[in-house]
Amino acid sequence: MRIVSTIPELRTARAQMDGQFGLVPTMGALHEGHGSLVRLAQEQCDHIGVSIFVNPAQFGPGEDLATYPRTIDGDLSLLKDLGVALVFTPAPESLYLPGHQTWITVEELGSPLEGKSRPGHFRGVATIVAKLFNAFEPDRAYFGQKDAQQVAVIRRMARDLNFPVDIVVCPTVREPDGLARSSRNAYLTPEEREAATVLYRALAAARRQYEAGEREGIALCAAMRSVIDSEPLAVAEYVSASDPDTLCETESIDPGSGVLLSMAVRIGKTRLIDNMLL
Ligand code: PAJ
Repeated sequence: MRIVSTIPELRTARAQMDGQFGLVPTMGALHEGHGSLVRLAQEQCDHIGVSIFVNPAQFGPGEDLATYPRTIDGDLSLLKDLGVALVFTPAPESLYLPGHQTWITVEELGSPLEGKSRPGHFRGVATIVAKLFNAFEPDRAYFGQKDAQQVAVIRRMARDLNFPVDIVVCPTVREPDGLARSSRNAYLTPEEREAATVLYRALAAARRQYEAGEREGIALCAAMRSVIDSEPLAVAEYVSASDPDTLCETESIDPGSGVLLSMAVRIGKTRLIDNMLL
């Protein structure tokens, strides 16, 4: 496994790899969600690269940049076991040079939901992913449905800026009790960990209503909110039933386009997100 930490080294290593190249961008603290992306990439590509970079630009003031879990030794040994050929672990100073002032904003798709709660977040995500696409020149790049809005933003950015890359989306990997795997789950106390199943329980409650014929977005949101409100340790930041393509709130669900149910919930000090596409 080649581990490189600067863009020139990365370009040299990449130039030696022929055939289809797959990229899996991550912020480390790797878990089975990341593992599923790596495995699919390996099935579909001749070579793959994984980036591990806690991107300061996508964290707002007061967010968890400083405390974000960093488990580089474990991450590297996991990637080695998975047979990954190339790992990029840059230092922030080598990706954002002094005086950096070029940013990518996906204006509409980046604004609602997470964009509203975390101003600037998707500007940071779109910019770093474009930089990684420029550095790796992947044929395919792998992202998780867990971050549904991130997928929408990156797809649009890649299309609008003519990156010749296929965006591949992998299903959300969950714990047996439904909690979506996330690096931030490490913040939860045992009591909070139990309460955190409320996100999946809320999504499942809305799905049951949908399956019973409910087609009003507002009713599905009410179903999610009432489950979240029943959990004393949980506070809903938002719940949403939106059009999967535009991310605009849905009034009456069109069966042709379906609906994206999504939410951000605070469990104690930890902010968790989850979603379900119906
Ligand atoms: P990170 O949170 O480390 O996630 C890296 C990739 O793993 C993302 O595409 C994310 O959607 C996917 N992922 C995380 N948890 C998952 C789960 N339970 N099931 C399936 N996939 C999951 O997302 C980021 O990093 C960053 O924003 C990044 C794209 C790397 C840009 O900095």
